[in-house]
Amino acid sequence: MKVIRAKHAGVCYGVERALDMAQAAMMDDETTYTLGPLIHNPKVVEKLSAHGVQVANDVDDIDSGIVVIRSHGVEPSVLDCLNAKGLTVIDATCPHVAKAQRAAAELRDLGGTVLVIGRAEHPEVRGLCGHAGNAAVVVAGVEEIPAELSEPVGIVVQTTESKEKLGAVVEALRSRGIEPVVKNTVCFATRQRQDSAAMLAEEVDAIVVIGGKNSSNTTHLFEICKAHCPRSFFVESVDELDAAWFDGCETVGVTAGASTPEDQIDEVVDYLETL
Ligand code: F3S
Repeated sequence: MKVIRAKHAGVCYGVERALDMAQAAMMDDETTYTLGPLIHNPKVVEKLSAHGVQVANDVDDIDSGIVVIRSHGVEPSVLDCLNAKGLTVIDATCPHVAKAQRAAAELRDLGGTVLVIGRAEHPEVRGLCGHAGNAAVVVAGVEEIPAELSEPVGIVVQTTESKEKLGAVVEALRSRGIEPVVKNTVCFATRQRQDSAAMLAEEVDAIVVIGGKNSSNTTHLFEICKAHCPRSFFVESVDELDAAWFDGCETVGVTAGASTPEDQIDEVVDYLETL
């Protein structure tokens, strides 16, 4: 069976940068916290924890030490709170997310509605809403666009969303006679991973998508693969693979979300090559 890796897969620039910043912080004598798990990858979070990096789920849980803000960023109020407590803040917000936050603030200043396309419960989306203020309305897709909208309508997108979803929301608004102000904040790394996953899924008999089940970008990769290849499988690690899934396959593709380190991809590729 031939195993083909997607041209663009795995850890992105923003995650790599956040990991480097957390690793540098843990060399310090003070206790290092991350506000929420640093990345949506349980194995990596376990490794960090073994080196003393603690996960705090709330600002109230931290009274001293160093706090690393993960690549997803935070609401301005959270940053204010950390600073008010006198904590050492290491801001590992991905520059692409920071750009989306600035876009959300600009749209807020237009004075109408800011549609934030993404998953309401995702930390990046909570951060974007914090920057968009009272104008923010989160929509997971076309079906959630409110019937009443105060204009102008601005659109900002969770960086790991798909451009297809953005296009569908824009079209739905235009069909209502609303011309939105669009900030396409889907990041370059996401687009590269989605496009190469789609191309690969088209040409293989089956495809494996590796990443945390709580990772938005990996979930989107899986949806894209599924649309092009019915035998798409979403796993967190090699242990979940089942040889029977690949019965009769001549080619298998492998792709991975932006929080999946190289060694986890290698393990899957090595296993598939033994079949
Ligand atoms: Fe940044 Fe895009 Fe990665 S926003 S964290 S480079 S998926």
